[in-house]
Amino acid sequence: MCFITFEGPEGSGKSTQIALLAAHLRKEGYKVVLTREPGGSLIADKIRQILLDKNNKELCANAELLLYLASRAQHLYETVEPALKKGYIVLCDRFSDSTLAYQGYARGFDRKTIRDLNKFAVSGRKPDLTILFDIDIKKGLKRAHKAKNSKDRLELEPSAFHYKVRKGFLAIAAKEPRRVKVVRVNSGVKEVFAEVACLAGALLKRKNA
Ligand code: TMP
Repeated sequence: MCFITFEGPEGSGKSTQIALLAAHLRKEGYKVVLTREPGGSLIADKIRQILLDKNNKELCANAELLLYLASRAQHLYETVEPALKKGYIVLCDRFSDSTLAYQGYARGFDRKTIRDLNKFAVSGRKPDLTILFDIDIKKGLKRAHKAKNSKDRLELEPSAFHYKVRKGFLAIAAKEPRRVKVVRVNSGVKEVFAEVACLAGALLKRKNA
């Protein structure tokens, strides 16, 4: 019924906010699917394991890009499209903008190529709304490391990589201000959630849902 994606650098608190939004919408009577990328289906979760395994040091950048896209194609096929067809609101933790920010802006792949490959992977599906959680990189990495005992393959990248990721996300938001709404994470969970709920509410109103 509608497709909302959540993006942001490491440690932006998006997973907490998605869970809060899912609970809020369910309470209001909506059918909600909460999912994530990479992963989000049995097969795509297997691809996720390869992508995040910190022992996969030899994984080359080309294969990394294609695996993120393979995971996305499978996730859409198995999870997202069937749920949208059944009238669910699909909330997705990361989607195409992550590929553009991480593999494009940070890894340095040609952005037009990524956009074209992404289009192929998603068969035309676009989010109705993307909420971008913007956080100071130092603060985000600190929060991410605190939340987990060990770092995954991407979190092990140097901070310069993560600065480029953030710059990339902000550039995407500047290019597509109607779809991508930036929420600054410089207040508490409650305050940030008030903004998230407001953005989701406005979308549902627009869709007459
Ligand atoms: P997360 O589930 O903890 O956000 O981990 C996913 C990691 O994968 C995160 O570091 C961002 C990264 N990522 C990409 O590099 N490209 C992508 O297309 C996606 C979806 C995620």
